[in-house]
Amino acid sequence: MIKVGWLGTGVLGAAIVKRLLECGLEVVVYNRTVEKARELEAFGAQVATSPREVAATCEILFLCVKGEAAAESLLFDEDQGVTAAGRRGICVVDTSTVSPDFAVSLHERLRQADLHYLEAPVSGGREGALKGTMGMVIAGEQSAVDAARPVLDRFTAKLHYVGAPGKAQLIKVLNNLAESINLLAASEVIAIGLKAGIDLSTLHTALSSMRGYSTYMGVLFERMLAPSDTVSTSLAVRLKDLGLAHSVADQYDVSIPMGALAQQLFKLAAQQQDPEVDQTKCVQLLLEQ
Ligand SMILES: NC(=O)c1ccc[n+]([C@@H]2O[C@H](COP(=O)([O-])OP(=O)(O)OC[C@H]3O[C@@H](n4cnc5c(N)ncnc54)[C@H](OP(=O)(O)O)[C@@H]3O)[C@@H](O)[C@H]2O)c1
Repeated sequence: MIKVGWLGTGVLGAAIVKRLLECGLEVVVYNRTVEKARELEAFGAQVATSPREVAATCEILFLCVKGEAAAESLLFDEDQGVTAAGRRGICVVDTSTVSPDFAVSLHERLRQADLHYLEAPVSGGREGALKGTMGMVIAGEQSAVDAARPVLDRFTAKLHYVGAPGKAQLIKVLNNLAESINLLAASEVIAIGLKAGIDLSTLHTALSSMRGYSTYMGVLFERMLAPSDTVSTSLAVRLKDLGLAHSVADQYDVSIPMGALAQQLFKLAAQQQDPEVDQTKCVQLLLEQ
């Protein structure tokens, strides 16, 4: 049986780990806040006390964290990080969304430590992870991708290999910019429809047969038709990704007025509510006018 290591059991990490356990894989988890890792024991996960311990026992280990400081400490902490285990040839698959430049630096630094690094950002949210239907863009050595496939195939339905380091994250940052703008556009449309007296279900059925519909309009309708406090993607993660989109746009000297507006609106939503609520709560800004 494949023994998988998993670092970072926040919203997304926990959902993918549950999926892997359901598929019968053995999974060893580590999370900075240990309670979140322990919640996975009930599903069959083993809990480790450090990333170093995970690296000492697993041939393949995944990273799913928010922010580059998190990756720095989990991978490179001198005492407790992955590299402190001193293993050679094991593979680190990074499902986090980070800047393309940071991904390039991780390829290089992990290569120097004799570890394989796969830059493997995903899309599909908590629901896609639980169903095993995530999309993934992946960069790194083809042989490492082939070796990781038996695990990747358990939680992804579509995998796009793009060779060069940094390219997978660049595409993912662009995807997330599009998601952000689409979600706000859908919020405007639904707010007007509801104020005009059209019920949500009619609006959904009619719009879903038309070309103005988007995947993210679907995400919003789904949440509004079956309200829930479960977080799939937080406003905080959305804002982190919009920050990455701005850095990339600056780097290529492209002006992103819609991205700038999206950033301000998500910031307002996070201030009015809570950065840790689900991103779809941004619709309240429009509904409560
Ligand atoms: N949610 C989604 O739909 C989705 C989809 C695609 C990609 N992603 C990407 O996946 C990653 C995780 O997202 P998420 O939604 O799971 O976020 P989340 O629920 O906020 O979880 C964040 C994770 O990062 C850890 N972390 C943050 N700062 C840390 C630090 N300084 N040191 C160690 N660990 C740290 C957290 O540990 P604690 O629990 O200790 O805070 C937690 O495990 C992000 O890069 C996000 O962009 C998310």
